[in-house]
Amino acid sequence: MKKHKIAVIVGSLRKESFNLKIAKALMAMAPESLSMELLDISGLPMFNEDLEGSPPKEWVALREKIRAADGLLFATPEYNRSVPGVLKNAIDVGSRPYGENSWNGKPAAIISVSIGAISGFGANHHLRQSLTFVNVPAMAQPEAYIGNAAELFDDNGKLKNDSTKDFLRSFMEAFETWVDTHVKS
Ligand SMILES: Cc1cc2nc3c(=O)[nH]c(=O)nc-3n(C[C@H](O)[C@H](O)[C@H](O)COP(=O)(O)O)c2cc1C
Repeated sequence: MKKHKIAVIVGSLRKESFNLKIAKALMAMAPESLSMELLDISGLPMFNEDLEGSPPKEWVALREKIRAADGLLFATPEYNRSVPGVLKNAIDVGSRPYGENSWNGKPAAIISVSIGAISGFGANHHLRQSLTFVNVPAMAQPEAYIGNAAELFDDNGKLKNDSTKDFLRSFMEAFETWVDTHVKS
């Protein structure tokens, strides 16, 4: 299988973010064919179309990094039953200027991670709605909703239980196939 570059986008800026921990666990168990890199969306100026004439350097850098990726992995918390503003802002910035959507056609997978029992379902699906519009095919199955996240990690930030590790590994295997299918076509 050809090697594919995956940009990993985490919708939380918290140092101790459970989404970041899950993203790191996924990166560590990624199949050989996926080369994973975290995309930093902190410090990205808020989208304002008036600035497009001379866009902030952070926007330009983000757009270039998205363009350079073959695929996308999103790990998102749920904020008030939707995606955090920082993630929505990154999607908006990447989608413009008009006619130059950097996200276009990149295959993606989504995992939502929450300390609650509903597991970020609302954020996961709101994200799918935006990704549809920017023409990102998001893997349908397996769906990945990680709940009660505070109980999943040990003091070193490592996953405690094998069933979660097994699920995450199968999620990454499905994502590998998803990326390979879309990049070829
Ligand atoms: C502003 C705000 C809104 C939140 N809204 C929700 C919510 O709608 N559903 C939910 O399951 N958790 C909600 N939470 C709790 C988050 O799931 C929890 O803070 C989680 O740990 C955030 O992800 P992180 O650990 O990656 O930062 C909210 C947290 C914040 C700060």
